[in-house]
Amino acid sequence: MRNLNKFALAILCCCLAALPQFGARRLLEFSTESPNAIADDEFGTYNFTSCQIYCYGSLLDTVQMAKLFEDSKTFVDMKLLFSPQKTLEDFDAFMAAKNNTPSRDEIREFVDAHFGAKGTELDVWTPTDWIEHPGFIDLIHDPDLKQWGVDLNNIWKELGRKMKDDVHKNPDYYSIIPVPNPVIVPGGRFIEFYYWDSYWIIRGLLHSEMYTTARGMIENFLSIVQRIGFIPNGGRVYYWGRSQPPLLTAMVKSYVDFTKDDLFAINALEILEHEFEYFINNNTVQAKGHNLVIYRDTSTGPRPESYSEDVETSQSFTTKEAKEDHYSELKSAAESGMDFSSRWFINANGTNEGNLTDAKTRSIVPVELNAILYWNAKMIAEFHSKAGNIEKMVEYETKAQKIQEAIQAVLWNEEAGCWLDYDLINEKPRNYFVPTNLSPLWVKAYNLSESEKISASVLKYIEANNLDSFPGGVPNTLYNTGEQWDLPNVWAPMQYILVEGLDNLGTPEAKALSQRWGQRWVKSNFEAYRETLAMFEKYDAENFGGHGGGGEYGVQTGFGWSNGVIIEWLAKYGRQISLSNTGAAARSCRLITVLGATAVAIVGAFAGRFIWRNWFK
Ligand SMILES: *[C@@H]1O[C@H](CO)[C@@H](O)[C@H](O)[C@H]1NC(C)=O
Ligand SMILES: *[C@@H]1O[C@H](CO)[C@@H](O)[C@H](O)[C@H]1NC(C)=O
Ligand SMILES: *[C@@H]1O[C@H](CO)[C@@H](O)[C@H](O)[C@H]1NC(C)=O
Ligand SMILES: *[C@@H]1O[C@H](CO)[C@@H](O)[C@H](O)[C@H]1NC(C)=O
Ligand SMILES: *[C@@H]1O[C@H](CO)[C@@H](O)[C@H](O)[C@H]1NC(C)=O
Repeated sequence: MRNLNKFALAILCCCLAALPQFGARRLLEFSTESPNAIADDEFGTYNFTSCQIYCYGSLLDTVQMAKLFEDSKTFVDMKLLFSPQKTLEDFDAFMAAKNNTPSRDEIREFVDAHFGAKGTELDVWTPTDWIEHPGFIDLIHDPDLKQWGVDLNNIWKELGRKMKDDVHKNPDYYSIIPVPNPVIVPGGRFIEFYYWDSYWIIRGLLHSEMYTTARGMIENFLSIVQRIGFIPNGGRVYYWGRSQPPLLTAMVKSYVDFTKDDLFAINALEILEHEFEYFINNNTVQAKGHNLVIYRDTSTGPRPESYSEDVETSQSFTTKEAKEDHYSELKSAAESGMDFSSRWFINANGTNEGNLTDAKTRSIVPVELNAILYWNAKMIAEFHSKAGNIEKMVEYETKAQKIQEAIQAVLWNEEAGCWLDYDLINEKPRNYFVPTNLSPLWVKAYNLSESEKISASVLKYIEANNLDSFPGGVPNTLYNTGEQWDLPNVWAPMQYILVEGLDNLGTPEAKALSQRWGQRWVKSNFEAYRETLAMFEKYDAENFGGHGGGGEYGVQTGFGWSNGVIIEWLAKYGRQISLSNTGAAARSCRLITVLGATAVAIVGAFAGRFIWRNWFK
């Protein structure tokens, strides 16, 4: 039997190898052509020449500490006018000439002479597979929401970007990581692609029937894993050392679910396994005798894109080692995608009160990262099964089972009735609400035979935390610290995890809550859109139609993942949801009151006359 499978697989592989349009082969070709990466083995490791300018070193330190730009990210997105080597030589000469203490103006002159404008590596690109009227529009009944669906579909054209040829010819002159296909970016200050954002963007694209663009973005990520060994936080070399929640396998799964192109997933398997093993090999810790994964970072120094900010918070620490540790905690939080949040604070008394100096990301076992790795193992097993490779399927099913056991043993909390992050320093669960506490529901990382019991527990947890009380969506935490991943901010991907998770749970109560939260999110986003004609990076839990603020930078619009989630939910709820339930319903309610009052008055008048005539006359 096993031999037969191997034989079938061998034939399949031969067929695939003969088809140049399929994934792996073409990707390999790209990776060997890419002049920017140094690939040792089959999978490359991170080593970009332009990192000497953009990732670390004295030039970066000098320029960023001069605070020439309002947003620290501006400088690291600027193009080099000369090679990194000449730039560094000129910089050394410049520093020597200025006695190592150049003035701010002199530094500005140096930057002006050696760097061009930011963001010049990308051209606006109209997706070639964009269509005016994708099928999901027809699923929306309310006319205002239907028009909104059309508008959102249009926004993909504004967020499309393609790399200039010069990036491929002279990658050393840019901080951008070259990729073969055009991308959809989040928007605002985020002018390049980001890793986990792309999951919700790609789902939106698939609903918009833009299969080529979606596939192109996935192929970019596959090629990045081949060249670098993992997917950095975003498409810039300065994100070296940190990834983001690993959703590449889920992107492939989404694409295959929409297109039925199983071969695409089968061809990607080697790369998907590599990324899975990367996380397991590099991020694993032990808790209560189980292996679990944490967020971490392998680079040194402050975040290049927020350099002076990190140096400032590091002032609380005296030794070089303590400062480095602090930077690592911040960059690990960036790997989680939740930068920043009280979720990552552990202070001396073991609670979440504090500020960024209390960030202890590497000592917190995060629920969703383990849940996502469980999911990845399940999907990889499924793709192997489709390829007929039973041995590999069993191998990955077993890995998934191990992760599920660890999640159950360490992260499930019977008292709270939910999963909780685990504090490795104080060896105790962290009973603070984060939407990710419910992420096992989203990826079904629990014993499915116990759905009823889990549903009852989780709904009690939701009630105890009063999560249904927010008009603008479920906030990211219940603590207002001024950080952007805290109260009152609400984020589309987190609403997605909650709503899809409760839907998956399948009990009538969980499904009803899922629908209420999903529709509330659509209506609240629409209210913000109606008022501002913009889609936001984050919204405001405490105000229906409000949008978010706080954190390190101004409010960003665009916005990739928000659009993706709304498009998916317009497709999902479009038949039932109606704005007239809110606005027009209130209007018709008033109308009925007015008509009713008039009727009572008329009837009363007649009755009065009748009574007057018959009894009192
Ligand atoms: C990166 O490559 C340069 C040469 O281009 C080399 O000197 C350096 O050691 C490499 N760094 C790593 C981390 O491999
Ligand atoms: C991460 O894991 C991969 C194998 O999956 C290994 O080759 C690599 O050296 C690891 N990197 C670090 C920084 O530990
Ligand atoms: C963080 O809190 C500590 C006290 O716990 C304080 O000394 C420090 O100044 C605060 N840092 C920032 C950046 O607010
Ligand atoms: C824990 O420490 C913080 C300051 O770091 C303080 O504000 C808080 O009251 C303390 N909480 C408890 C329960 O001791
Ligand atoms: C799942 O739950 C059922 C019902 O409680 C139980 O019989 C079974 O042993 C559980 N399976 C695992 C793997 O824990």
